[in-house]
Order: sequence, then C-alpha cells, then structure tokens
Amino acid sequence: MVRETRLSAADLIQPLFVRGGSGPATPIPSLEGQFHHSIETLVEEARAVHAAGVPAVILFGLPDHKDDAATSAYDDEGIVQLALRAVRLAVPELVLITDVCLCQYTSHGHCGVLRDGQVDNDVTLELLAQTAVSHAAAGADIVAPSDMMDGRVGVIRHALDDDGHVDTPILAYSAKFASAFYGPFREAADSAPAFGDRRGYQMDPANGREALREVMLDLEEGADMVMVKPAMPYLDVIRQVRDATLAPVAAYQVSGEYAMLTAAASAGLIDERAAALEALTAIRRAGADMIITYHATRAAGWLS
Ligand code: PBG
Repeated sequence: MVRETRLSAADLIQPLFVRGGSGPATPIPSLEGQFHHSIETLVEEARAVHAAGVPAVILFGLPDHKDDAATSAYDDEGIVQLALRAVRLAVPELVLITDVCLCQYTSHGHCGVLRDGQVDNDVTLELLAQTAVSHAAAGADIVAPSDMMDGRVGVIRHALDDDGHVDTPILAYSAKFASAFYGPFREAADSAPAFGDRRGYQMDPANGREALREVMLDLEEGADMVMVKPAMPYLDVIRQVRDATLAPVAAYQVSGEYAMLTAAASAGLIDERAAALEALTAIRRAGADMIITYHATRAAGWLS
C-alpha cells in the first residue's frame, strides 16, 4: 500500500534484432539470452513478447548490404521494412517502434554520411527522414531517431507529415550519451565505428544541463516522447528530465547494463531476477514512464 513506485510489464519495451535469410534464430554472443532473428523467428518472438504482456518492441535491423550512403536503411524492401510488414500482420496489437539511425547501414559504422572524414549533419538529416518515412509506410507505430544529428526531429516530423503519416509519433533519443555501455550492442548490431568515436554527435557523460537542453530542443521540434540513454548511470538526468517536461519520458537500459547483470549472474555473484527488477524499479523511481530493456520479456514473466 505504501509502495511509491510500481513496475509492470506494461512499462517495458523489448529490443529485437532481425537479419535477412531464413532458419532458426542465432544467439548473440555479446548479449546472453538475445537472438538474431530471421523474419520467421522474429514473428514468433513478437507473439511471445505480446503474450507476456509487454506492449511494445523496438526493432534493429542487420542489413545484408552496407555502403557509404546507407541505402539499405531507407530501402522499402530493407530488412526492417520487411520485418515490420510481417509482424504488423501477425501481431497487430503489438506496438512497433523502430530505431532510426544509419550506423548499421553505413560501411564505416558512423551514424551519418561522411564528408572529408567527418559526419555531415545536414546531408544525413535527409536520409534519416527518408528512413523514418519508409518505416512508417511499412507499419511502424512510433519512430525513434537515435542518430543524435542536430535538427533531426523537426526534419523527420515534416517528412512524416508530408507523406501522410501525421499520426506517427516520434520518440526522440534526446539525451543520448557517448557511452562505453553500448559495447555489446555494437557487436550485436555490427555497428561499431570503423574509425574515431561518436563524441562529435553524442553527449559528454559529464553534462546534465546539456541533456535538458537537448530534450527541450527535441520537444520544440515536435518530439512526442523523449529518452535518456543509458539509464542506470544517468538516473539523475532521468529525474531532471521528468521534472522539466510533461511529455512521456523513456529510459534505455542499454546493452552494457544488461551484460553486467547477466555476466555477474552467470558468475554466481548476483541473483539476476532480483537485481534486474531492482534496477528497473530504480529507473522507474527516477522518473521514467517506460523502459527499453533486454530483460523486458523475462521481467514480465517475473512480474506476473
Ligand atoms: C544506434 C544505436 C545504438 C544503440 C541504440 N541505437 C548504438 C550506438 O549509439 O552506438 C545502443 C543500444 C545498446 O547499447 O543497448 N545509434
């Protein structure tokens, strides 16, 4: 009765990885308990997520082909677009969120296209907008730009509206820090930058006020929901964002956070279930309305 914070399956979002080709799902070595899905197994997994009571998934694609212009990202027959159509049909009630970024699709692994060895912000915006529109056209319910280019939310909003997707909301990765905790994901998504790092477009972990500024800019540009990422090292930022806006706030418990929990549990050092539920509850207590977590489906089982 006196508990201040509640955690339920309804707060959680499960990330899923999809690749081309058929056959069984293959385990992702860097993310224990997570899989690279073919479209067939993705559909099965989406059913399982929904049956567990988790309302939403966020999809990440591993394209067959990468190039300098990230063409597979905004190809209407790209892996995410094909996956969206299949899951939309099979599990219509599941909320489908897509990660809008170019890093899995560029040959160099940066989140935008390059000019003179640097990410070109404004050329990238156009390609991100095309990607978001093609996701919406293929059945995405929510698009989530994670690239951190300046001005992307406004450009994506206009492009969606122009194409008739006026009801597709934007979940902006607003306060996305240049974090060491993305390591296992980059291995899973084959998206590590071939040179340099992401500090030119992602945020300095030392900057809390800048995070608020990014959130405000994204909301002004038309973001419907904002995100803080990673989650556990940034609980103070989640709290500040929660207090500064009325918009829904998401937190992303990222791959490195998940890997620490699963590795410690595998080594017999912590109780995975108790530690995961504690971490998720703390992220809710800090002010997150929803949490993207690799534990989503299992946590839903633990909570039921
Ligand atoms: C794409 C993207 C990344 C993550 C989500 N979307 C990687 C990155 O920015 O390097 C990380 C998610 C995770 O670590 O779980 N830009």
